[in-house]
Amino acid sequence: MQHNVLILDFGSQYTQLIARRVRELNIFCEIYPYNNPPKDLSTFKAVILSGSPFSVRAEDAPHPDLSEIRGKKPLLAVCYGAQYLAHFSGGEVAPSNIREYGRANLSYIKENEPFLENISNDSQVWMSHSDTIKTLPTNGVRIASTKDVENAAYKIEGETTYAIQYHPEVYHSTDGKQMLENFLVKIAEVPQNFTPNAFVEEMIEELKNKVKDDKVVLGLSGGVDSTVAAVLLHKAIGKNLYCIFVNNGLLRKNEYDSVLDQYKGMGLNVKGVDASARFLKALAGVDDPETKRKAIGNAFIEVFDDEANQLTDVKWLAQGTIYPDVIESISVNGPSATIKSHHNVGGLPDFMKLKIVEPLRMLFKDEVRRVGKTLGIDAELLGRHPFPGPGLAIRILGDITQEKVDILQEVDAIFINGLKEHGLYDKVWQAGAILLPVNSVGVMGDERTYEKVVALRAVESTDGMTADWVHLPYDFLMKISNEIINKVKGVNRVVYDISSKPPATIEWE
Ligand code: XMP
Repeated sequence: MQHNVLILDFGSQYTQLIARRVRELNIFCEIYPYNNPPKDLSTFKAVILSGSPFSVRAEDAPHPDLSEIRGKKPLLAVCYGAQYLAHFSGGEVAPSNIREYGRANLSYIKENEPFLENISNDSQVWMSHSDTIKTLPTNGVRIASTKDVENAAYKIEGETTYAIQYHPEVYHSTDGKQMLENFLVKIAEVPQNFTPNAFVEEMIEELKNKVKDDKVVLGLSGGVDSTVAAVLLHKAIGKNLYCIFVNNGLLRKNEYDSVLDQYKGMGLNVKGVDASARFLKALAGVDDPETKRKAIGNAFIEVFDDEANQLTDVKWLAQGTIYPDVIESISVNGPSATIKSHHNVGGLPDFMKLKIVEPLRMLFKDEVRRVGKTLGIDAELLGRHPFPGPGLAIRILGDITQEKVDILQEVDAIFINGLKEHGLYDKVWQAGAILLPVNSVGVMGDERTYEKVVALRAVESTDGMTADWVHLPYDFLMKISNEIINKVKGVNRVVYDISSKPPATIEWE
């Protein structure tokens, strides 16, 4: 990939959002932590400095040397970045005596300023800082103000250096994307060539050069990321890609067979391994959610290792890692503890000692979907709801038995098929059913029953970090509830989960 735009991260919660907005302009960009920037800057055509939770006046705040960047590359400094630039270049940054948080409107826009072309006069911007720029840096020229913030935006005379105290990347800055476009396309002249087609072509070439005639093994999950990674690799190296699809016995009803068929129809060289019994055995009597997850994780590693060992001369392990995972591992605050545990190479299973290839490591989830579409992957597969790795095990509260799995698979299938039949599936981000560890009293004919309760859950979300419950139509819920109670033996009550995240989570375990 061409390194077009470098985003130097000072630890702001919005840094990923800057990258998203830049990518929406079909411009490739990469985030690097300010304390570990790329060694070679020559391929970057522009640089963006992110915001930060720090005050520039704090001793432990990020104060990197920008001498290789400023004046040498087009530079856009956002929020903390703008204050940092001012603080170290002859300006003055001081605590603000008013609250500079939330919506504001531009009240002054410098005329004939390319950065602000096509921006409405009173454009709404989003502020989020407690310091403010009192005096501009040497050669600084004010280009925009709000009622409360005089130096809302400035540039440095004689350079392509721009600085803004507001956040162009958030939705509330209504012309934020236009400003980014003005800076990147008009001022910095960065090419808008990062399209799904271009990505596919370049990545296939890159994979061919990297993997050559080696064999690669990949674990398919039925989800979007591993499928797109597999199809890309398949296009690059054909039969040298060996895929393994493990049935852990905790998938949705008929999912193992139907997904396996779908993969074979796509021409992938895939081996299905039905290890349901092994997983169920590992889970016997376990009711703690985290212990369940560990048991499933360990069983998966054992099964995958057994299978990978049956292949000879495999050199690479392919993974469907995507960009948010990568950003997390290189964050300003350092990699998380789980990532560090990978250094324990001696204790790793054999397949984890292989070289790693991750064709999607630079893509956000929606970009993965678009790449999948370009590759001709079925829209139904690309539009599938997320499904957790431990599967139904974390939707059966308490211990797991085959009987409970069977019940939940039936309930879940009625719910999910119902959503599809009523045109609701694509309006929901994730949906599923939960089998509760309680029985309740009911009547059926003249008989009193004492049977299981199931909960239905459907949420709207963009990334799973926050979620709202979906207001599914009452008529639909009534129909699904009737169908479940009539058809699924052992269930006599259905409830609908109306909790949002936070404080509730999406899964119940
Ligand atoms: P929560 O329940 O934390 O879920 O709100 C957020 C998203 O993560 C999924 N999830 C998991 N995915 N392994 C996974 O692969 C897990 O252990 C796991 N737990 C939760 C959940 O389905 C939702 O999409």
